[in-house]
Amino acid sequence: MALLRAEHITQRFGGVVAIDDVTLEMNPGEIVGIIGPNGAGKTTYFNVITGMYNPTEGKVLFHDKEITGRKPYEITSLGLARTFQNIRLFANMTVIENVMVGMQCKTSAGVLDGIFHTPKHRKEEKLVEEKAAHYLELTGLLDHKYDYATSLPYGKQRKLEIARAMAAEPEILLLDEPAAGMNGQETEELAEFIHSLKDMGYTILLIEHDMKFVMSLCDNIYVLDHGSLIAQGPPAEIKQNPRVIEAYLGKEE
Ligand SMILES: Nc1ncnc2c1ncn2[C@@H]1O[C@H](COP(=O)(O)OP(=O)(O)OP(=O)(O)O)[C@@H](O)[C@H]1O
Ligand SMILES: [Mg+2]
Repeated sequence: MALLRAEHITQRFGGVVAIDDVTLEMNPGEIVGIIGPNGAGKTTYFNVITGMYNPTEGKVLFHDKEITGRKPYEITSLGLARTFQNIRLFANMTVIENVMVGMQCKTSAGVLDGIFHTPKHRKEEKLVEEKAAHYLELTGLLDHKYDYATSLPYGKQRKLEIARAMAAEPEILLLDEPAAGMNGQETEELAEFIHSLKDMGYTILLIEHDMKFVMSLCDNIYVLDHGSLIAQGPPAEIKQNPRVIEAYLGKEE
């Protein structure tokens, strides 16, 4: 049984068909890549899976249960957490606070506990901070915990987005262009880090433009072009697929 299955997804925006009948499946422990030229529909596919859009057609199943159209926060608490192509960090919060925000859906102390600073609330907050520190350590950001998030160099902000997603304790991490804007060395370190996430038991869905990065990491790759699935398979096959080469390099007359 697939851990995640998005079936026959179609997403239209007025006259634009951003995704046209695309099915994707992931098994536990896999790293799956979605690639394709600009505007192919990659981010839109993430938005459908994570509940930002209710697709025009199709269903999303997680653990064989339908989650189509659920609210993004419900989907996060079920076990799918994502990062964004355009970094979305809270500028006026520190690094550790940004991770703590990612854990909100997991805490049980209610709003009143917060207002009256009950012992339950204080105990929970301490636990939340310790856990946040743990994810900062994993992503190599612990030294920056009291810095403002937006004071970090770009590559580290991307890692902070991953730490925040991990803090929601998901089964599946969805990363939208995690290496965008990183230099060669940062990209290589990130690839190693994502590989270590797989060893920790995460299942990962990854959108990426950097082909070397995708080919070295993914077990399975889906290629979108103008909203359609043009190829799917392991990296070695995808690399040699004529339709993929054509979509990337343009048709030779
Ligand atoms: N909310 C929206 N309203 C209207 N059109 C949209 C919306 N979101 C996406 N689109 C359109 O859907 C298509 C796919 O966009 P999407 O952002 O999913 O592409 P992408 O593969 O992620 O591209 P990139 O590599 O540039 O990030 C584009 O034509 C885009 O303009
Ligand atoms: Mg995108």
